[in-house]
Amino acid sequence: AQPVVIDCDPGIDDAVALLLAFASPELDVTGITTVAGNVGIGQVVDNALRLCDLIGVDAEVPVVRGHAGPIARAVRIPDEPVHGEGGLGGVHLPPSARTPHPSHAVAWLAAQLRDRGPAGTTVIATAPLTNIAALLHAHPEATSSIKEIVLMGGAAFAPGNVTPSAEFNFFADPEAARFVTEAGVPLRIVGLDVTRKALTTRADIDELLADGAPATAAAGRMLDHLATRYEQRHGVAACAVHDALAVAATVRPDLIEWTDAWVTVECGGEFSRGKLIADVHGRTGLPHNAKVATGVDTDAFRAFLVSRLLRHYGA
Ligand code: BDR
Ligand code: CA
Repeated sequence: AQPVVIDCDPGIDDAVALLLAFASPELDVTGITTVAGNVGIGQVVDNALRLCDLIGVDAEVPVVRGHAGPIARAVRIPDEPVHGEGGLGGVHLPPSARTPHPSHAVAWLAAQLRDRGPAGTTVIATAPLTNIAALLHAHPEATSSIKEIVLMGGAAFAPGNVTPSAEFNFFADPEAARFVTEAGVPLRIVGLDVTRKALTTRADIDELLADGAPATAAAGRMLDHLATRYEQRHGVAACAVHDALAVAATVRPDLIEWTDAWVTVECGGEFSRGKLIADVHGRTGLPHNAKVATGVDTDAFRAFLVSRLLRHYGA
């Protein structure tokens, strides 16, 4: 199985992404690093520890605490958090007896990547890119140890979800996102262009709830929180599960259409701070540095996600 580390900020869709990753035999998840984003770092770490208990993650797989905020400028956490009370849609998981790894995420990642050797580890990033940028800045040698970074972030060809142009993970730390795009690491970017189409339907959620095992029920209840909000806004009985698509993109890249591009992130801009720029037509003349997702087989993704969760965690 491919060794991966998951850098995340659970968060409902991060939680579902973790469940999917641990249900995927193609992946060997060797650690979970955490960063402030959907909720503050303390809550993110606590949520990750509780999720590990829920699905019985091996005690040797650490949860590692990372950065508590962005590199350059503070970002205002929304008054009405998308992810609900506690960041997991008000779903209360029992407190965990696990403790976070004693290292900082950046130091842990540097050591882990070194130990796994050249191009040995895939990094799945589903949160603001603060930890990953700090890693590549402080430990440039880590670049050669990363097989690929598969990240959820940006909205190259679609409207943003924080500002008209910026997606949350990139808006939360644009300088970090920019640094990662320019670091020379193989990069695959799954942005809102496609994650907005990676919907789970009310029927999928009902199937998880009906199964009723602890992890499928928790996934169902968390997604129900997102879907209720999505239904109110968009009138569709479904919800996007952005971060889970980054895991699917790692295991089943064939579910997604990709285009090569030179990418960067706007860090200035009056209205465009945090905007992912993708030069797909070679206007800049700069060499391609990423594969950007442009399409997804929505039904195949839904079936993949729900069947893996049911098969691995179901009653
Ligand atoms: C991203 O922002 C967060 O709220 C989600 O967890 C996802 O990573 C979507 O814009
Ligand atoms: Ca996230």
